[in-house]
Amino acid sequence: MQTDHQTTHDALEDPRNRDILIYVNGELKPRDEAKVSVYDSGFLLGDGMWEGLRLYDGVWAFFDEHMDRFFDSCKAVSLDVGLDRAGIFEALEMTRRANGMQTDVHCRLMLTRGVKVRPFQHPSLSRSGPTLVIILEHSKPVDRMAGPGIQLATVPQVRGLPMSQDPKYNSHSKLNCVIACLQAEQAGADEALMLDPHGFVNTTNACNFFIVRRGEVWTSTGDYCMNGVTRGKVIELCRRDGIPVFEKNFSLYETYGAEEAFLTGTFGAQTPVASIDGKPVGDGSRPVTRRIRELYKAEVAAYVAARR
Ligand SMILES: Cc1ncc(COP(=O)(O)O)c(C=O)c1O
Repeated sequence: MQTDHQTTHDALEDPRNRDILIYVNGELKPRDEAKVSVYDSGFLLGDGMWEGLRLYDGVWAFFDEHMDRFFDSCKAVSLDVGLDRAGIFEALEMTRRANGMQTDVHCRLMLTRGVKVRPFQHPSLSRSGPTLVIILEHSKPVDRMAGPGIQLATVPQVRGLPMSQDPKYNSHSKLNCVIACLQAEQAGADEALMLDPHGFVNTTNACNFFIVRRGEVWTSTGDYCMNGVTRGKVIELCRRDGIPVFEKNFSLYETYGAEEAFLTGTFGAQTPVASIDGKPVGDGSRPVTRRIRELYKAEVAAYVAARR
């Protein structure tokens, strides 16, 4: 489906991505030959976990934080990774070296419960070990700070309660988020702003959400949303820099009146929001978002310099 919509994951076209090598269970396959079985638990049920990481100057940014989330998620659903953190690191590096990649690279690391003996739900039918796939793409995100930003629409689809499918799982099944995104698209926006079960503003379908009001930075309590690595970094950086930051409940009323709003995620770092439900956000000057973006860039640079 061809649309004019922007997404938070728009990257500049890079023809080198046609010829990448993809890691599939220890082997490197050309893109067109990289395949998993139709009996795979990920394909049949969305039964798997994934992480999005970025490579800056040969360094996997915030690797430990990503692995904390990944291993916690896998443990919680009894998904045996089959490798320790060092093993995952080596698999990333093997894929990186094979592709001759150094910087401006995005990684999607995916682990499923593996191939099933029959096409049904029971986890015991997955008997041959997990499926691990690593896709690395050359990826330079479109600079949204230079443009008007993303348009959000509030949607009927809400974030779930932790006792149904905890939104903290970065699971292959993202149907809740996909439905929200479709609703936003059908309302003429780029992406969805999702509420929590009590009606407070929570997060977007693919990123975490922040507003700036009267010089303060607000984000949700952290319940019902992905425990984003970038979200955590932004909160930490605000605290370190003396920018007042609060994790709290707030409603659309306060959101519509914000001077700035931005999204966070590994891919786009901080993405400014132009409008919410057709209402423009602030005057577009975004001084706090700009400051946080600078702090984040410096944090990534310091992280990379310490590990090179
Ligand atoms: C629903 C959702 N929210 C937020 C994020 C951002 O998380 P991070 O900052 O760790 O990339 C993601 C990324 O996977 C996500 O899927």
